[in-house]
Formats: sequence, C-alpha cells, structure tokens
Amino acid sequence: MVIKVCVGSACYIRGSHTIINKLKELIEKYSLEDSVELKATFCIGHCNKAVCVTVDDDIYAVSEANINEFFEEAVLDKVKPCK
Ligand code: FES
Repeated sequence: MVIKVCVGSACYIRGSHTIINKLKELIEKYSLEDSVELKATFCIGHCNKAVCVTVDDDIYAVSEANINEFFEEAVLDKVKPCK
C-alpha cells in the first residue's frame, strides 16, 4: 500500500508536514513499515479544506481532527482485515 501526502502549496499551508509526521507515528505504532510506503506528492488537483492524501487510488481529505479515523478506515482495515 502506498500513502501519498500532498505537499503542494494549498495543502502545505494546512499542515502537510504535521500529517506526514502523524502518519509516520501511526505506521510505527501499528508496525506497518513493511506493508505501507509513505511518500510526498505535489498538487493532485483536489485542493480542498484539508490535506489531500491518497491511499493507492483513493483520495482523502485529512486533518489533525480526522487523522485517526482516516487511518483506521483507509489503512488499518485494508492492511489488517482480521484485526
Ligand atoms: S495543493 Fe494539495 S491537492 Fe492541490
């Protein structure tokens, strides 16, 4: 699974760096280093009210307020279906 966090200007202003750091923490917390690859990407044309994050082909708007929920639904449920 590849997670890409947009670091384009609109997303950067909304805290891309914070989202990247929190995702790193979550990946480490759940020991997903071997199954999840975290990358940065430039604007993918979905600038909205949060930071744009893609998980494989799906696009999400992620903020500090919903990052745990996002991670659980978009990442954990897919990489660890039997949790
Ligand atoms: S700047 Fe992030 S989607 Fe456009």
